[in-house]
Amino acid sequence: MKILILNGPNLNRLGKREPEVYGSLTLEQIYDRIKQLADHLKVEVQFFQSNHEGELIDRLHFAVETAQAVVFNPGAFTHYSIALRDAVASIAIPVVEVHLSNIHAREEFRHQSVIAPVAAGQIAGLGPDSYLLGLRAAVALVQSGRKTK
Ligand code: DQA
Repeated sequence: MKILILNGPNLNRLGKREPEVYGSLTLEQIYDRIKQLADHLKVEVQFFQSNHEGELIDRLHFAVETAQAVVFNPGAFTHYSIALRDAVASIAIPVVEVHLSNIHAREEFRHQSVIAPVAAGQIAGLGPDSYLLGLRAAVALVQSGRKTK
């Protein structure tokens, strides 16, 4: 089983970026933890991060050929990118939305996710564990064959 771990804008700055909100781990260090769990679960993970909306859209489209599910942190695009939402809706594999911070407990503009209605589910506020739980959820969804949209 192959799962794509997809990260949006500014997540390449983790470790240096607002550590009081996002923690001190770099994206590479989070990738290491994800890889460890993936090995334990005997699944393959692919990693992709981009600061560009179009590149994220292209990678989502391509994911149907390379993966069975996606764990996606869309960063700030979460709150306003209808193009990303449509890309998620356009693919027939489950997408689990994840966030390090609890977007519902932060500024009001972060409370809305335009991705959530087309995602299989959302995990937010658990720091790097959001990705690990997202991976477990993605694996479980693929195993159950549940239709998610
Ligand atoms: C984030 C939350 C977003 O509101 C923010 O723009 C991010 C990171 C998170 O993981 O907590 O870039 O997606």
